[in-house]
Amino acid sequence: MPNRVVVGAQWGDEGKAKVVDYLTEEADYVIRFQGGANAGHTVEVGDQKFVFHLLPSGLMHDGKSCVIGNGVVLDPAQLLHEIGDVLTKGIDATGRLWLSEAAQVVLPTHKLLDQLKEKAAGKDAIGTTGRGIGPAYYDKVARVGVRVGDLLEDDLLRARLEKAIAAHNEVITKIFGAPPVEVGPVHAEYRAYGEKLRPYVADCVAILAKALKEKKGLLFEGAQGTFLDVDHGTYPFVTSSNTVAGAACAGSGVGPTAIQQVIGVVKAYTTRVGNGPFPTEIEGGLGAELRRIGHEFGATTGRERRCGWFDAVVVRRAAQVNGLTHLAVTKLDVLDSFDSIEICTAYEIDGKRVDHFPSSLARLERVKAVYETLPGWKSDTTKITDAKDLPVNARKYLDRLAELVDVPVGMLSLGPKRHQTIRMGM
Ligand code: GDP
Ligand code: IMO
Ligand code: MG
Repeated sequence: MPNRVVVGAQWGDEGKAKVVDYLTEEADYVIRFQGGANAGHTVEVGDQKFVFHLLPSGLMHDGKSCVIGNGVVLDPAQLLHEIGDVLTKGIDATGRLWLSEAAQVVLPTHKLLDQLKEKAAGKDAIGTTGRGIGPAYYDKVARVGVRVGDLLEDDLLRARLEKAIAAHNEVITKIFGAPPVEVGPVHAEYRAYGEKLRPYVADCVAILAKALKEKKGLLFEGAQGTFLDVDHGTYPFVTSSNTVAGAACAGSGVGPTAIQQVIGVVKAYTTRVGNGPFPTEIEGGLGAELRRIGHEFGATTGRERRCGWFDAVVVRRAAQVNGLTHLAVTKLDVLDSFDSIEICTAYEIDGKRVDHFPSSLARLERVKAVYETLPGWKSDTTKITDAKDLPVNARKYLDRLAELVDVPVGMLSLGPKRHQTIRMGM
């Protein structure tokens, strides 16, 4: 199998987990490399539904190994909860889940700070998931973070926690006027997590290097989406990690020469959770219809997802910054009942046509989407198993997406279940 990176090419929730679950069949290792429990990755197999936040979606498959790489911010309580939860469904992570010693640990104070900051920001809030992601990455970059390996060393852990939490308490008490957090109970709690996680902690760089040497297949599972990337997204309305394909390398310790395919997952339309620009958003009417048919509610926070038409300008930019080799188009079935479907082909800013995604927020906020209308297919696609059986108009829609983005469609998804997937020359 080629080594593959799967990334979201819009604003997250594109159906990455479904694509990763499908491709895990051909892989040996599935690797999370950035983000944390802000992710909500849904896999549906038979009548079982799993929502993963930290565990790689590949864990569903017996015998496949899973890695949480150094680029992830790991909330130990959440991870232990997920490990316990999948065990009740017959999935045992022992001996095939590996956590990087160098991954950052999310502390209770990170979550508290995330929530306090959002509340204080009022109408300027980012609309974060409240999972402590921003503050945890902040500490990583400020070089005061606690790493997974530190959880296993009692004295070191205490020292790291004292330093980090003292700094957090300055902000918690002086800026937000909230009571300080005591180090003692956090130390006891995290020490216990360390003991529970000890069997999983490993040198993941060495594990992946060995896997590459043995020609095993690596599948990298991106979280969030390209436009939530801290550099390439709609800053400041972004998450705090690099979500683009290049982060797979830095966030796992595998070099770029190991990657052969980069798959950009896109919905056949567009959604976004949280605040920030969204040029093709449809407010009310059809937007609500897309939300209802597509069940567009966040897998992590349950929030309504904002919905709109497919934006080819956005995905064209995603193709560039990720080096996409293929698109995986999901949720085409959600458009089955529409009479006609719009695709955004370009933008208009201050009366001028623009074909590329503007990097300045000010310009982005003035964008008007330019649409092209295609006829709908008005038939049920959810049972189709071969691309040649697609309705002519559905085929035309897909072909037009690929043409506008200039990346071939390698996979098509026509429903949430594993079997509702069509491979198209990938
Ligand atoms: P992720 O974060 O990118 O993994 O995506 P989420 O799991 O947050 O959201 C995708 C949602 O769409 C999940 O509820 C999936 O079960 C569902 N889904 C995925 N592919 C399809 C599809 O082709 N059709 C339909 N109707 N639902 C899908
Ligand atoms: P998956 O992996 C959709 C959004 C939040 C908010 C912004 C910053 O399921 O696609 P954060 O908590 O990361 O600081 O929030 O990013 N966000 C997501 N939106 N899918 C996700 O993950 C997201 N993870 C974060 O809504 O706008
Ligand atoms: Mg999601």
